[in-house]
Amino acid sequence: MRRALALARRGRPAASPNPFVGCVLVKGGRVVGEGWHARFGGPHAEPMALARAGKAARGATAYVNLEPCCHTKKKTPPCVPALVRAGVRRVVAGCLDPHPLVSGRGLRALRKAGIPATAGVLEEECERLNRPFFTLIRKGRPYVILKAAASLDGRIATACGDAKWITSPEARSEGHRLRARLDAILVGIETVLKDDPKLTAHGEGRDPLRVVLDTRLRIPPSARVLRDGGRTVVFTAREDLRGRGPRRGAAVVRRVRRTKAGLDLREVLGALGEMGVGTLLVEGGARVHTSFLEAGLVDEIWLFLAPKLIGGAAAPTFFEGRGARRMRDAIALGLTEVRRVGPDLLIRALLD
Ligand SMILES: NC(=O)c1ccc[n+]([C@@H]2O[C@H](COP(=O)([O-])OP(=O)(O)OC[C@H]3O[C@@H](n4cnc5c(N)ncnc54)[C@H](OP(=O)(O)O)[C@@H]3O)[C@@H](O)[C@H]2O)c1
Repeated sequence: MRRALALARRGRPAASPNPFVGCVLVKGGRVVGEGWHARFGGPHAEPMALARAGKAARGATAYVNLEPCCHTKKKTPPCVPALVRAGVRRVVAGCLDPHPLVSGRGLRALRKAGIPATAGVLEEECERLNRPFFTLIRKGRPYVILKAAASLDGRIATACGDAKWITSPEARSEGHRLRARLDAILVGIETVLKDDPKLTAHGEGRDPLRVVLDTRLRIPPSARVLRDGGRTVVFTAREDLRGRGPRRGAAVVRRVRRTKAGLDLREVLGALGEMGVGTLLVEGGARVHTSFLEAGLVDEIWLFLAPKLIGGAAAPTFFEGRGARRMRDAIALGLTEVRRVGPDLLIRALLD
């Protein structure tokens, strides 16, 4: 199963928003075929492993990190009949597929065909790898990671708005590698106006789709996010897009509703989902982080902490807003990782 997970990771990020899946066929203690889901809409891990094994697949045990699919409402043929036809002896899945059209049916169909099939090996690790896919299926929206670089006193800029740089080059490179693994990166218009970021992966891999929240369409055509690098989507509430759009620089402009807190984030996430975004990195600033957290739309936090104290009541922190009235109202997080990155600290945590 560990090998299946390692193969599955090869599909990151190109397979998104499909799940990351790896498959290993073992016979007589020997690996006779391997496969993984390499790109969105492309062939699944199981047929790739079966093709590589050829006749040797007969009598082999298939290890796959996600339950094999059995439904036909998708681009690729279902994997269960392929496994049955190939004559595998047994199927061991890491975890069940949360898709309502699968969810246990894949294993049942295998058993019905006389092939013993079980799930629950390295289950937690298998579910963790595909948390974005599980979120897409269960919540109908992309998986959202909030990332911030802060001083030990939680500031993400000085009171004058200077944020370059809070953390070390090592921490920033780690952030760029994270960008390369995700489908899109989102910031608020104030971050664009104050920092003029490029929001690319800085050569660490594939550049994510760049997303700006800009209610009044204040973004200047000279902004680097519209010029250097790949695609950009600017969300706005402006009605009079004629003459100003739909294209502005290299960007597509999309209109969404406005709410009290700013642009309607659920509509933004819905539109991004339709564009094939399965994973989204929210990278500031304070107002945008606060809106996402208050709306309960954050799945994971990556907080880089620099051993510095910025101070200043007017300096932004990465979560502001009204705040919790009592301790029991505070947002509870589950720590998943604490690690030193150069001179800084990276804290990763999950939200419910
Ligand atoms: N250290 C870090 O990790 C980091 C990362 C990024 C930024 N920063 C710093 O953060 C500061 C900027 O933060 P900020 O809080 O002033 O601005 P921001 O969060 O970058 O942008 C906020 C603006 O986005 C627009 N917006 C549209 N819909 C929104 C919604 N649903 N929720 C929130 N905002 C929405 C609003 O402007 P309109 O009404 O005009 O649309 C709002 O004023 C800068 O100093 C920057 O350097 C630090």
